[in-house]
Amino acid sequence: MTVLVTGGAGYIGSHAVLALLEAEYTVLVLDNLVNSSRESLSRVERLAGRQLTFIEGDIRDRQLLDKLFAEHAIEAVMHFAGLKAVGESVAEPLAYYANNVGGSVTLFQAMADAGVRRLVFSSSATVYGEPECMPLSEAAPTARASNPYGQSKLMVEEVLKDLARADARWSIALLRYFNPVGAHASGEIGEDPQGPPNNLMPYIAQVAVGKREKLSVFGGDYATRDGTGVRDYIHVVDLVEGHLRALEVLKHCTGAHAWNLGTGRGYSVLEMVAAFEAISGKRVPYTLQARREGDVAECWADPAKARKELDWQARRGLEEMMADTWRWQSKNPDGY
Ligand code: NAD
Ligand code: UFG
Repeated sequence: MTVLVTGGAGYIGSHAVLALLEAEYTVLVLDNLVNSSRESLSRVERLAGRQLTFIEGDIRDRQLLDKLFAEHAIEAVMHFAGLKAVGESVAEPLAYYANNVGGSVTLFQAMADAGVRRLVFSSSATVYGEPECMPLSEAAPTARASNPYGQSKLMVEEVLKDLARADARWSIALLRYFNPVGAHASGEIGEDPQGPPNNLMPYIAQVAVGKREKLSVFGGDYATRDGTGVRDYIHVVDLVEGHLRALEVLKHCTGAHAWNLGTGRGYSVLEMVAAFEAISGKRVPYTLQARREGDVAECWADPAKARKELDWQARRGLEEMMADTWRWQSKNPDGY
C-alpha cells in the first residue's frame, strides 16, 4: 500500500516514515524543506534498509499534487506538513493560515478529485483551548485557541468534519497530539529546531550540550505541585505507532474521528529538568521567569478512546524519553 506523507522530512514525519517503511508500506514524501533537511530522510532510508520517494515541493501547489496522485497509486495520506511556531504565528498570521489552512484545503481538494479519501491529520491538544477539567477526553469541547497556529489546527479539524458529513466515503483520523518528545533509539533522527527552540525538551537538550546558557522556566506560580506548568509528554515513537494503528483502523471505518495521543500522565517543567539531569549526568541551569502568554497551567490526556478504538497506548516512560533525546542531541550537537 502506498502512503503519501506530507511534511515527512520533519521531526514527527521522519519517525512516521521510518515506521511505515518498517511496516512494508511504500512511502512517498512531499516536503518543501522549509523547516527540515533531506538528510533526515537519507538516515531514515539507512535505518529501514529501504528506499522512499522524495518530492521537494509544496502542499499549496495544486498542479504538483495532481501529478503525484496521477502517477502513484496512493491509497492514503498522512498529513504532517505545516508551520508550528506559536510565537511566529502571532506575528505572521497570514503565513500560518495560508500554509496550514490553505495548504490543507488544497491537499484535500486534490485527494477528493483523485478519489483518495483516507487521511491521518496531525492535530493538537491546543484545539481544547483553555481547558478547565483534567484529564482531557475527546468529548471535551473545542475552543478558540489563543494564537493563529492553534486556531489553524481547529479550523482544519472543522473543515474535515464538514467534509466527512458531506461525503460519507471519507475516513479521517484527527490525531490530537499532546507534547511529543524524544527521538528514535538509534540517535540518528530527532528534533532539529532552527534557531532557539520554542519547546521545552529541545531547549533542555541544547542547554545540556552547551549550545544555550540556561533554560528560562516560564512561570513558577501556577497552581500545580511545584508551581511550574504540567504537560503530557509522549515519546515520538509511541506517537507514530498511534498513526499506524489509525491508518489500519481507517481501512474499516468511515467518518472523521478524533483520538487523543497522550500518555495520561502529566509532568511539571522542573520534573522534566530533574529527570533529564538524572539520565544525562549533565546539569541544566535554569531561571524562573514570568509566565509565557497563552500557556495553560496544566494539560494531560485521557487516552482511553485511543486505547479502546485503536488498540494503542503509549509504552515508553519518562526515562526512555530523556535517554533518547540525549542520545540524539549528544550524537548530533548541531542537528543534521
Ligand atoms: P516539523 O516542522 O519538524 O515538520 C513539518 C514539516 O512540514 C517540515 O519538514 C516542513 O519543511 C514541512 N512543511 C511545512 N510547510 C510545508 C508546505 N507548505 N509544503 C510542504 N511541506 C511543508 O514539525 P513536527 O513537529 O514534525 O510537526 C508535524 C505536524 O504535527 C505539524 O502539522 C504540527 O503542527 C503538528 N503538531 C506538532 C506538535 C509538536 O509539538 N511537535 C504538537 C501538535 C501538533
Ligand atoms: N517551557 C518553559 N521554558 C521553555 C519552553 C517551555 O518553561 O523554554 C514550559 C512551558 O511554559 C510549558 C511547558 O514548558 O509549561 C511545555 O512547553 P512547550 O512549548 O514545550 O509545549 P506547549 O505545551 O506550550 O505546546 C505544545 C506544542 C504545540 C501544541 C501544544 C498543545 O508545541 O504545538 O503543545 O498543547 F499546540
